[in-house]
Amino acid sequence: MSRPYETIKTKKEQTTTWITLNRPDKLNAINATMLQELSEALDTTEKDTNVRCVIITGEGEKAFSAGADITELQKLTQETAAEFSRKGQQVFSQVETLSKPVVAAINGYTLGGGLELALACDFRLASDHAELGFPEMKLGIIPGWGGTQRLAWTVGVAEAKRLIMLGDRVKAEEALKMGLVDKVVSMGKLEAEAEALAQRLCEGSPAALKYAKRAINSVTKSLLESGLKKETDFFAQIFSTKETKEKIDSFISQRNKKEGDC
Ligand code: COA
Repeated sequence: MSRPYETIKTKKEQTTTWITLNRPDKLNAINATMLQELSEALDTTEKDTNVRCVIITGEGEKAFSAGADITELQKLTQETAAEFSRKGQQVFSQVETLSKPVVAAINGYTLGGGLELALACDFRLASDHAELGFPEMKLGIIPGWGGTQRLAWTVGVAEAKRLIMLGDRVKAEEALKMGLVDKVVSMGKLEAEAEALAQRLCEGSPAALKYAKRAINSVTKSLLESGLKKETDFFAQIFSTKETKEKIDSFISQRNKKEGDC
């Protein structure tokens, strides 16, 4: 039995486990507690031989996840930024290397760290109102949880540069065309479609699925590992700059001002 969680929910339905990011009032932004709880839930799932497939989604209809919790980014220094990056990378690598298939059911905004999590999943189903992107550039930073690497591997270097360096945000249909998601369905059908996909996966032999996943992941493994280390170094270096601090502070103070004006 897993312990009760604060920032995620888990639900087992026959041979599938649902993991739901559960901070809807913060658009399921990923904080340190959520990373830790995700890691524990993945461990539990790995050990449970009855579980054959995992679906990750966000609570509510607005967001899968709006990314790393910006209030935690605000506190980072060059030293703590490296650890922050490594922790997120480690948890998302846990998703990628889980011995069971993982489906992302993308139910709205999927930004920054939210997209990094989705990219670590084996399949991505999106609701038609979903929007995906990397807003890091406007905060003066880069993705630090594997996004620079997995995005380029998934959609190619040119599209990765467009999304990360220009900060273009794409709607679900465009994401489908560029191969960022595998299928788009209406929000009302997302859960059923995710379950149907999980059901098809559960029909496969667990051992064959595990080895197929491991073999396919080995295509990128060594380059991905060295790329992730570089990403951590660059992510940390950026936090030594004055401009980054100013951009993050300004983003947060503009938001606070907006609230004050209401
Ligand atoms: N970290 C922390 N809190 C976040 C968040 C994040 N990444 N994204 C959204 N939230 C919080 C907001 O602060 C707000 O909380 P509050 O009501 O206590 O002020 C709540 O979620 C709702 O967000 P809000 O911005 O009011 O919704 P919106 O519909 O106006 O805008 C977004 C939606 C996604 C466009 C906007 O929330 C946004 O730009 N978020 C930041 C995305 C980002 O830069 N992520 C990458 C981080 S590296």
